[in-house]
Amino acid sequence: MSMFRTNATGVPSVRIFAVGLIHSVAMLCALGQAAAQEGPGLGIPATPAEIAAWDLSIGPTGDGLPEGSGDARQGAAVYAAKCVACHGVDGRGQPNDRLVGGHGSLASDSAVKTIGSYWPYATTVFDYVRRAMPFTQPQSLSNDEVYAVTAYLLYLNGVIDEDDAMDAGRLPNVAMPNRDGFILAYPQLGG
Ligand code: HEC
Repeated sequence: MSMFRTNATGVPSVRIFAVGLIHSVAMLCALGQAAAQEGPGLGIPATPAEIAAWDLSIGPTGDGLPEGSGDARQGAAVYAAKCVACHGVDGRGQPNDRLVGGHGSLASDSAVKTIGSYWPYATTVFDYVRRAMPFTQPQSLSNDEVYAVTAYLLYLNGVIDEDDAMDAGRLPNVAMPNRDGFILAYPQLGG
């Protein structure tokens, strides 16, 4: 069949075909815009409870630290049950990260970075342990357990006493040894 067959009015039917094509493209564009406005229809909105479960970052100031408390003796029991297999007796490391010691080593050729020698804030130790540890069961510890095991690690590092219970009020005030060891990389930008 020829595309240039004339119809009854003598107008080549290719023109009618072209008009139809333009119409179709316009229709598709309109449909596309409608789809873009409505979205692809995937997923469901996160509930406030679901957002709260992931919104648990604790920064240097300790804002948002939860209720609860724990000291080094309680933390030793948590550590023995849930941490020692990967971080070794007394936090000395192996098979995974060493958590204790290394004080004064940062400026040497063999820097040993631990919570005690390197981390500038105790609040972010709480944050990290609550969020990520034990490695195979993150977010399985109670807040009391996280305070207690944080206290135990700070005690092993000589940062606090064995009887110093940690809680939302005290953790931000712990003086970490390397607190002033960080510099602003871009002081002109304020950070
Ligand atoms: C199954 C092994 C495993 C267990 C159990 C485990 N950890 Fe870890 N931990 C790791 C690994 C692996 C890393 C390094 C993760 C990374 O770098 O992403 C780590 C990192 C850490 C760090 C950060 C060290 C640093 O200086 O960067 C802390 C603190 C820590 N663990 C505390 C704990 C505590 C407290 C427990 C017990 C409640 C625990 N871990 C249980 C494997 C484990």
